[in-house]
Amino acid sequence: MQRHTHRGPFQWSPLPQPLVGELREHARAEGAELHTVESRCAQRHLAELVRTAEAINRDDPGHVAELVHWTRASRDGRQDGVPLAACACDPDGTGLAGRDFLLRATHTLPTASEVWPAGTGLVVLLTTRNDTHQDWLCAGQALQRVLLHATARWTVTAFHTQPLEIPWLRAQLRTTIARGEFPQMILRPGHATRGRPTPRRRPDAVLMSE
Ligand SMILES: Cc1cc2nc3c(=O)[nH]c(=O)nc-3n(C[C@H](O)[C@H](O)[C@H](O)COP(=O)(O)O)c2cc1C
Repeated sequence: MQRHTHRGPFQWSPLPQPLVGELREHARAEGAELHTVESRCAQRHLAELVRTAEAINRDDPGHVAELVHWTRASRDGRQDGVPLAACACDPDGTGLAGRDFLLRATHTLPTASEVWPAGTGLVVLLTTRNDTHQDWLCAGQALQRVLLHATARWTVTAFHTQPLEIPWLRAQLRTTIARGEFPQMILRPGHATRGRPTPRRRPDAVLMSE
């Protein structure tokens, strides 16, 4: 109940190295790997892939309609969707472009900054060695462990999965930063005040009895 997606910049305090090691161990326990993206060159490349995917999304009427639907659900008071209160920050305010849930940035993206904004914080990539259904399951379990452990250590996490949904961008990410492994999630864990609670479906709405 305490874990919520963060969207926006972080405080400047870096994540303690022991915590980064713990998150890596949690991913590894499920058969996945957590790589930190720290070199300036890798950060710039990743930022470019995210920007390219986000620009494609913002230009796609079908994608825009889907975003409107996700946020409209919360406007209508339904128990799903992305709440407006969770999208208060500029989606382009960090080194990695965010999803433009409120369509504030219309179709355009600012040109890539030469300077990596300090509020971007740490960027990590969750990967698996293969890309079978079993690997997807492992990636999901690893993600759950990483997110819950981060939450227990007063750390919030942002997601930037746009390039993973476009096959040619995912392939580029795989051969460059992921060094041949299959990228499953792009995350930014960091320190920020926790956002407002988001709606949760009731357990009986998401569980099936045999
Ligand atoms: C596989 C996966 C990918 C996601 N990708 C993004 C993303 O690219 N951008 C984003 O803002 N949120 C992303 N999210 C977060 C969801 O929007 C979020 O989980 C949902 O709105 C529920 O809110 P909560 O995490 O605060 O409970 C992703 C979540 C999952 C599970």
